[in-house]
Amino acid sequence: SGLIFHGPSGPLVAPLGSSVVLPCYVDELLSMEDLEVEWRRAGSETLVHLYQDGESRPESQQQDYHDRAHFFTDQIQHGNFSLRLDNLTAEDEGKYTCKVHSQNDSGETVVQIKHARLLVSGSNVSISASVGEDVTLNCSVDSHITPEHIEEVSWKKTDEDEDILVLLYQNNQTLSDSSHERYRDRVEFFTAEIPKGNFSLRLKSVRTEDKGVYMCKVFSGGLSANATVELERLGFSVSHIMVLILCILASGSALLLCFIIYCRTPIKGKCVTKIIFK
Ligand SMILES: *[C@@H]1O[C@H](CO)[C@@H](O)[C@H](O)[C@H]1NC(C)=O
Ligand SMILES: *[C@@H]1O[C@H](CO)[C@@H](O)[C@H](O)[C@H]1NC(C)=O
Ligand SMILES: *[C@@H]1O[C@H](CO)[C@@H](O)[C@H](O)[C@H]1NC(C)=O
Repeated sequence: SGLIFHGPSGPLVAPLGSSVVLPCYVDELLSMEDLEVEWRRAGSETLVHLYQDGESRPESQQQDYHDRAHFFTDQIQHGNFSLRLDNLTAEDEGKYTCKVHSQNDSGETVVQIKHARLLVSGSNVSISASVGEDVTLNCSVDSHITPEHIEEVSWKKTDEDEDILVLLYQNNQTLSDSSHERYRDRVEFFTAEIPKGNFSLRLKSVRTEDKGVYMCKVFSGGLSANATVELERLGFSVSHIMVLILCILASGSALLLCFIIYCRTPIKGKCVTKIIFK
């Protein structure tokens, strides 16, 4: 015979400092007599928690787990041998075995804890734009953090002397009013992309002074991470446009001149015009 356990299909992902319940339960009702439940670090003798002879045995567990491992004694009668581990540390990452012996049955299951790591990516290449254009500055949060666990996302322009708040997202809301006046009404998130962890910023009608480095900083479950995007080479200032217009005008007049000369040359009275766009 063997017990059939239910548990998570993948590792439990939890941030440092948080609490996590390591699930271990069976459907059948077990006799409480001679029931023993042992939680250990997999592949080692480290005892995380022991339940024996109708009670928890703190004297036999590893010191470090004394105050941090919580067993739900009242749940045992329902076949639930889960363990709560508080105040997760970096060393807690790894596999745990839950071993159950009863009078007739025994079995074990493995549960893995992984630390949540917050990964934020921006753009490796700098973005160039022309004055007056709209640009998108990329910022994405690693997919295994669900958006409801994202407490805050701030976009700031990092200048030498001070940081300027460009756009803020907090508690499921975009707080447009907190943007610096330079950016007010010119910035937005792609609302439909937020559930995918995509906090890219749309900056409308780019100005010359927008040039610089932008930082997207994300806070989630006590962790924070950031990514930067550089906005550079704001082409086509007013003087560029003037020069461009002059060039077009100049080549236009030259063409017109050629045309007039060509038409004045009598070749069987025909005058063919071709306009070529380049
Ligand atoms: C087992 O007990 C813990 C603590 O009460 C609870 O969080 C968990 O949902 C229980 N599991 C099941 C399957 O009942
Ligand atoms: C944000 O939304 C999620 C799901 O709608 C909810 O669980 C969470 O509590 C909300 N957070 C805040 C701070 O309102
Ligand atoms: C985020 O959304 C923007 C706007 O739709 C898009 O351009 C960008 O590629 C998206 N980023 C990712 C990583 O999907």
